[in-house]
Order: sequence, then C-alpha cells, then structure tokens
Amino acid sequence: MDFEKIFKNNEHWVAEKLALNPGYFSDLSKGQTPEILYIGCSDSRVTAEDLMGVQPGEVFIHRNVANMVISIDMNAMSVINYAVRHLKVKHIVVCGHYECGGVKASLQQTDLGILNPWLRNIRDVYRLHREELNAISNEQQRFDRLVELNVQEQCINVIKTAVIQEAYRERGLTVSGWVFDIRTGKLIDLKIDFTKILADIMEIYRLI
Ligand code: CO
Repeated sequence: MDFEKIFKNNEHWVAEKLALNPGYFSDLSKGQTPEILYIGCSDSRVTAEDLMGVQPGEVFIHRNVANMVISIDMNAMSVINYAVRHLKVKHIVVCGHYECGGVKASLQQTDLGILNPWLRNIRDVYRLHREELNAISNEQQRFDRLVELNVQEQCINVIKTAVIQEAYRERGLTVSGWVFDIRTGKLIDLKIDFTKILADIMEIYRLI
C-alpha cells in the first residue's frame, strides 16, 4: 500500500461525498452529536464504522489492543469522560472480536515487554472466570469464550466509573457488550444484563 494511492483514494472520496451533497464537509465541520461511544480493538480487520454501517459524525470511537477499559488509562478515561459529559452520548458499546491477537497472547506463556501489564488485565479476566473457562475442553471454544468474557468485564469496568454511574442515574445511559465474529462478519449482541450487573456491583463500586 503506497501513500500516493491513499491520497488518490481520498480525492475520490471527497468527490463522491460532494457529488451527493455539496454541503457535506461544511456540515461536518459544524460539530458532532454522536449518540454512541464505541470502544473496540485496534485490529486492522475490525473497522468500526464499516462493520456498523455508520457515517462520520454518528459514533465516537476509541480503539486499543483488545478493547480494554483500564481505570488508570488516561486515554480511555478521557475518551469516556468527554463522550459522556460533553457529547452526552446515550449508549456505550464495548466491542470485542473473535481471533483477537491480544486475547490470544494472554493465553500464552510469552514475555511481550510493555504489553505484559496491559494483557495482564485479560489474564485477570481469565482468573475471575477460571472455573467456567477451564471446563471448556475445546481450545477454540475456550478462546472464543474468553473474548466474550473480556467484553463483559470491560463493560463492568465502564460501569465502575463515576461519570457512567451519574449518567445512568440522570439520563438512563446504557452499556452494551458486542462481539464481531471475524469468521462470518456478523456482529453479535452479548445481551449483557446491564441493570442486573449494575445492581450487583454497586455495593462495592458505588461512587456517587
Ligand atoms: Co483484537
């Protein structure tokens, strides 16, 4: 992939957008009012807007290795704060994907340097759900299930923040967990029971 091609592609894209709507970019430049904050994996095969079929301006997006929500990650916490307090998003989605390299690495005995502390958070997810995961004898199915449980735990990490607890109480913000099945292209709603989880963890994590 050469850069020349990328800039050519961009010219075509601009022309296409303007042919449909001459005011497309001047409208975009006026501001954004996305209703969804999407937290997904950086994986090059899991393109947020494409797989959801959404347009620029519709979804606020944060991506990192293995779609993690870590309490001391200033980047993710800033994104969540900005999206909830300033953009007033109505929904937060954590979207994982099968065959996630980050999740796979956490299942292996490998020293990955700076990635060790990052991926250790996924090992913690494994430890929390060790009984269920160890009962799955098929390696692929165990890997898939860890991807799903990691999404669930990252949703819980979102719920542990004060901004989310406040927005839930004041305007009914929701948190959802999805998985993108890279083998079929399908987006799967894990149907995480947000209200139940919230009630369950608030005993310990209530901040406001
Ligand atoms: Co991934």
